This record gives sequence, structure tokens and C-alpha cells, in this order.
Amino acid sequence: MERFARQAADALSQVLPSPVSASALDVPPDTRLGDFAFPCFRMAKEARKSPADLAKELAGKLNEPGRLPDSLTAAAVGPYVNFTATKKAAMTSLLTDILAGPGIGDYGRKPTHRGTWIMEFSSPNVAKPFMIYHFRGTGLGACLDRVGRYRGFKMVSINHVGDWGTQFGKLYVATEMYGADLPADPKIVDLVKIYVKFHEAVKDDPTLEDRARAAFKRLEQRDPIVVANWEKCIEISMKEFNALYAKLDVKFDHVWGESFYEDKLRPLLAALKTADILVQSEGAWIANVTDEKGRELPPAIFEKSDGSTIYATRDLAAAIYRHEKYDFDRMTYVVGGEQKLHFQQLFSVLRQMGKDWVSKCEHVPTGLYRFKDSKMSTRKGNFVTLEDVWGMAKERVAALMTERGSNAGMSAPEF
Ligand code: ARG
Repeated sequence: MERFARQAADALSQVLPSPVSASALDVPPDTRLGDFAFPCFRMAKEARKSPADLAKELAGKLNEPGRLPDSLTAAAVGPYVNFTATKKAAMTSLLTDILAGPGIGDYGRKPTHRGTWIMEFSSPNVAKPFMIYHFRGTGLGACLDRVGRYRGFKMVSINHVGDWGTQFGKLYVATEMYGADLPADPKIVDLVKIYVKFHEAVKDDPTLEDRARAAFKRLEQRDPIVVANWEKCIEISMKEFNALYAKLDVKFDHVWGESFYEDKLRPLLAALKTADILVQSEGAWIANVTDEKGRELPPAIFEKSDGSTIYATRDLAAAIYRHEKYDFDRMTYVVGGEQKLHFQQLFSVLRQMGKDWVSKCEHVPTGLYRFKDSKMSTRKGNFVTLEDVWGMAKERVAALMTERGSNAGMSAPEF
């Protein structure tokens, strides 16, 4: 745009008694009116004319043949002469700059080290389908990650896969009960089926919950049989997730699932209890929390009454670990809007722990997917996966192509 401002100033200089420089130009508040504006007030005073009359007079002169380069148009708008760069000239100039740069794809790149930025995104759950709501965060996170790299940040992308928690106890019991129904090469959908079946069976036999809890305890204690089952679930899931990431061309520096922080949880809980940040309530250990303005929020559980840790406990350990390792300048969690409270609670506990770097952490909510009258639930079997949406998109495109008779020699697009 500087180039066009200079051209406008040159053209103006020809129709004025003395030359003006590009710095005499303003930017109109509404760019639909023009890219630059030359205010006529001062000059009108000297010439004893009204600024609007002078603007009209100057615009008239500028529009005489040969005065303005092809790249610009000029018009009087009240007391201003406004200049607009034509689309064609602006695009040509932009493309010329891009092509003249150090390499295509380097335009606007910032080489300087602008700090370390942790970008956590995607984070699907093992043994559960890759949902449409994971896709939005995956796209947005991957995009922010690329922009950050381009603009000179040391980016660290992390996939916080949900690979730990009491659901793996349930899954183990479900495998014990229905493992025979599983195909030789099970997919995530097969795991979901037995998981849903387990939940149906619990309705008739609540003791299954205790069995699941016991199985999770065994996992925590590294019982090889339960560990093998858990590892198998991870393997099945990651294979499918990785195929999706390959399709989407999304990469991570680290896939650090929730289980990665397992060995840090007990010492962390002990420290929180000593510091009185956790207090006991009905057998569980909870933290009283506030938002950043000090307004009270619902308390957050960090240890359940049966002694097990939860999602929030692992997030707390994860934040501290990442800060210790990277001393980051910024950490972004790209996660669905339904987890807003979770992150407020997490940040509150970090504040209470005196981790003032919490101010560098942010939750970027990616909106909320739900059905008209219910939320999505893996357990209840009502959900929409990314594959579902891809399938539907493909069908609709194919149907449209047939309908419009434009499919001669064309096949439906591959996703
Ligand atoms: N696995 C979670 C889910 O699918 C999302 C994890 C988001 N990240 C985090 N650090 N809590 O709901």
C-alpha cells in the first residue's frame, strides 16, 4: 500500500502549487470510501475556498487524462480527495512481492525467535470415536500452530490424548464379558459397542461398577494383564487417529496422553493437601475455586472418595510439567466450549499454587456441538463422528453432481 500512497502523492503534487508527500495522506475510517484520503482543510483556507469545493476541483483535475496511473482512482468525498487502489493493481503488486521474496511461502514470515508457544489441540479419547467436535479443535489448533511457526514462535504442539481414567477399568471388564464378540482385528467402533453394552449391563447389575473400579486399580498398579488390554485399546485407537491426521496433514511434536503424567499425580496431590488448597468433602478432595476476577465457581474435585484421580488432576500435572520443561511464553488449549468451567477451575488452582505463569495460559473454546435436545454421549451411543460427516458430505456431493447432470466423466471427490 505504501507504493500506492506514493503514487497518489505524486499525482497530487502535479495538480497542487507545491509538492506533497505520502505522509500527508490519511486512511479513511471506512475503507470502502477509499484507501487514502487527502484532507483539503489547510489548503482551502489559504486559497479562501471551502474544503469541499477544493476537493471537487482537485478530483476533477486528477481525473483529466494522463494524470493518474492506472492503478488508482480518485474522487471527492466531502472535504477530502479519496484515492483507491484498483483490485487488479493491488493483487498484482501483492503477487509481485510474494514472488520476489526469498521463496514462495516466505511472504510475511518472521524469522526472529518470538518465544515459546505451546499449542495443545485435538486430544481425542482412546477407545472412543474421533468426534466431530474433536475435528473443529484439530483444524483450528493446526492452523494456529502453523501461523505461529510462520510468525517466528517456537511452537510445541501437543496432543493430550485421553488414555487414562476409570473408563479403562470398565473397558477391561467389558472385554472380559464380551471379548468373544470382538472381531479378530477390532476397530474403535467395536470397542465402543462393548463399552455401551457394559453400561447397559450395569443397569441390572450395579456390582459391575465395583469390578470396573477394581480393574482400574489393577491398571494403576500395573497388573500386566490389565496393562496389556489397555495398551491394545491405545494401539487400536492411535492407528485410526493417525490415519485421520495423515488425511488432514496434521502433525504433533508430542502425543502426551493423560497417562504420561501418572507418576506425577500422587506427589502433586500430597503437596496440594499440605498447602490446604485441597480440602476434604464427603470423602473426596476438592478445591474451592474462583474465576480471574475472584468470583466464586463450583468447587473442583481432584481426588475421588475412592482415592482415584481424575481428568482435572492430570491436567494440573500436565500444565506444571509443560511449564517446567519449556518455560513457555504462552500456552493455548484449543478445546470445546463445554470445558470452559474445567479450565477456569484448573487456572484457579494454579493461581492458588502461586504459579503466576497461569496468566500465560488460555483456553480457546471451539464452540459447542450438540443435538437439538441432548448432548452427545458415547455411553448412550448418540454421537456424530468425523467419519460420519465425511461420509455424509461425500454422499451429498455425489447426489448433487448426479442431480445436475454434471457427472459425465467425473467421479465424486475423494476425502
Ligand atoms: N480428551 C478430552 C475430550 O475429548 C479433551 C482434552 C482437552 N485437553 C485438556 N488438556 N484437557 O473431551
